[in-house]
Amino acid sequence: MDYKLITPEYYEEVIKHLRNTFFSDEPLNKAANLCEKGEGNPDLELHSYKTLEDNLSIMAITEDDEIAGVILNGLVRADQNACQKKLDLSSDENFKKIFNLLNYINSKVNFFDIFNIDKLFDIRILSVDSKYRGRGIAKNLIEHSIKIAKEFNFEIIKADATGMFSQKLLRSHGFDIMTELYYDKYVDEFGKPILKVESPHIKLQLLYKKIA
Ligand code: ACO
Repeated sequence: MDYKLITPEYYEEVIKHLRNTFFSDEPLNKAANLCEKGEGNPDLELHSYKTLEDNLSIMAITEDDEIAGVILNGLVRADQNACQKKLDLSSDENFKKIFNLLNYINSKVNFFDIFNIDKLFDIRILSVDSKYRGRGIAKNLIEHSIKIAKEFNFEIIKADATGMFSQKLLRSHGFDIMTELYYDKYVDEFGKPILKVESPHIKLQLLYKKIA
């Protein structure tokens, strides 16, 4: 398995990979019923393309040039409110449910003030094809991302870790919990959970790692 920075000629293949994996099986996408395996989602695809354009994303690729996994990393500047912009533009209610939640947890923390920084390395999408899972690919993608963040002089990496396995993985790479939210406590005006996230995933964690 080779680990490479994702260059534009791979963007379409990456989106194809995500349609078969992350778009349908990431815990929040699954809870919101965002799409079926293999289906596209215009908002999530735009979000992915925009992140790819930051040139910080990495893929795990087989000898046969098949994408086994990806980690899409974005750059956030202090004056950006990327999450809110995505919400304002979207007309997909399920997508909005997810980004409202991500926006809500991120609004509780201002990394730029806390760490006196002007840019943030944001791990946005971590996805491994089901047939390649359990072989340490996600672990390697995280390690390569930490290396790139260091090379580009980032001081802080953050991630919204939505499931138990990504939380365990990132914690084992020295990520700490900035804040967390139990899914059954994120409710509508009638007290009903807005996203019914399947077990074993019980909470969303906003994680960070200081690298400088
Ligand atoms: N069941 C039990 N343990 C698991 C599982 C699982 N389904 N997946 C990973 N783990 C554990 C492994 O046992 C391993 O632990 P260990 O080092 O103590 O042995 C550790 O997590 C690392 O496993 P990897 O093999 O590196 O992980 P993998 O390559 O299988 O990918 C991932 C894990 C990315 C979570 C994959 O299951 C996936 O793509 N899931 C769907 C999308 C998703 O949920 N992405 C994360 C959302 S958060 C975000 O994107 C920022």
